[in-house]
Amino acid sequence: LSVADTITVRRMRFTIPQDVDPVIVQGRPEESFIALSLSLLLPYLEPYLIRTMKAALPQITKRRLADEVAAFIGQEGQHYRQHLHLNEAIKRKGFGGLAALEDELDRDYQRFSLEHSLRFNLAYAEGFEAFTTQLARITADLDMSQWQPDVADLFRWHLAEEVEHKNVAFDVYDHVCGGYVHRTIVGGWAQRHFLRWVLRTTWYLLHASGAVPAHGGAWASLRRSLAFTVDRGWRLTPKVLRTYLPGYSPHHIEVPQVLRDLAAHYSEVAVSIAGPPPSR
Ligand SMILES: [Fe+2]
Ligand SMILES: [Fe+2]
Repeated sequence: LSVADTITVRRMRFTIPQDVDPVIVQGRPEESFIALSLSLLLPYLEPYLIRTMKAALPQITKRRLADEVAAFIGQEGQHYRQHLHLNEAIKRKGFGGLAALEDELDRDYQRFSLEHSLRFNLAYAEGFEAFTTQLARITADLDMSQWQPDVADLFRWHLAEEVEHKNVAFDVYDHVCGGYVHRTIVGGWAQRHFLRWVLRTTWYLLHASGAVPAHGGAWASLRRSLAFTVDRGWRLTPKVLRTYLPGYSPHHIEVPQVLRDLAAHYSEVAVSIAGPPPSR
């Protein structure tokens, strides 16, 4: 099995409507804005992952792993470019306060690349990847019928590909530097770092959009927030916590059939499909 069979770089053409409603999950602004904030995070986080992997490449002595890294870079490069279409459509509605939040995030990731060790950056990358793999697994079971269909498509494609490359950051960290304690400490710090940004951005969007008064007021919003937190917390937290155990490896995670089917579907509808670009 070649890397191209397991990690497929798909070029997609999602059509996000120019006038897309920021409440992308019908009737649920809180859930909508968490998803949008994740989308807004990606054009900063994913280029940072790519810089990190490029910095690691010269130290990778296994040919297959180097090919997987090239495919990882290919996939992540497509992800944030596609999310930019959604982000730009949202920003056309206003939300001027996003610029300051994004600047801060951009500065953080530029600083990590310049000032932190490759080991730190690889552990950050794995902290993010361990999280997205679990997010993909729980999303596979969710009912997304209330989502704006084009946006749902974008997120499903992204999560299916996250699972395809779930082992790469872990393997690179292990190969180039390794160390369980460092990986979990930095990984936990990373999850706190990007989730804090996501929550602050969600909070901003909730206020700036006027969606709360339009959806039943503050108590209704609080009720929905609690229901969402309990439901997703219940599904996601134990799975993420298990990634902190000493024996954890993403290689042991079974990929749900739904995600395999989605990957096959997106291969079919992709504009083009490429194997990994040459890694060196
Ligand atoms: Fe991604
Ligand atoms: Fe990823």
